[in-house]
Amino acid sequence: MKSKLLSLLCITAGLLAAGASSARAAEPRVITITTSDAMKFDVTAITAAPGEELKVVLVNPGSMPKLAMGHNWVLLKAGTDVTAFSNAAVSAGAAADYLPADFKASIIASTKLIGGGEKTEVTFKAPAEKGDYVFLCTFPPHAMIGMKGTLTVK
Ligand code: CO
Repeated sequence: MKSKLLSLLCITAGLLAAGASSARAAEPRVITITTSDAMKFDVTAITAAPGEELKVVLVNPGSMPKLAMGHNWVLLKAGTDVTAFSNAAVSAGAAADYLPADFKASIIASTKLIGGGEKTEVTFKAPAEKGDYVFLCTFPPHAMIGMKGTLTVK
C-alpha cells in the first residue's frame, strides 16, 4: 500500500514537472503593435531568431469601425510580390477581410481585421531561413501609405 502511494506520488510529480517544462518551452515572445487612424504601425521593425515563437498582439485604439478604418497584421513569405498581393487584397474585398485567397500560400501569419477599440493576436514561428520578411496591413490602401514593416530573421 505504502509503495503504491509512493509510486503514485512520483507519477504525479513527474507529470507536474513535465507540464511545467513544456509550458515554459511554449511561451512565445510577445510583441505588441499599436495601430493608428493615421494608418501606421508603431512598430515597423522586428528582429527574431530563426524559428523563434512569437505572439503579435495587435491593438487598435482608434474609434472608427472596421469597415471604415480596419487594421490587420499580415506577414508575407520572402519573395512575395507585395504589389500583386496588395492588388489581390483589394479584389478580395471587405467580405474576405482583405485577405486574398489566391495568396494564401504567401502568408506566414495573419490576424483578423479589427476596428477601433478592438484587439487581436496571432502566434507563429519565425521563418527558419534568415532574411527580411514584409509585414503589412492589407486594408487598402494602408500599406501603400506606409502601414508596413519588416521582420528580420537573423
Ligand atoms: Co490598416
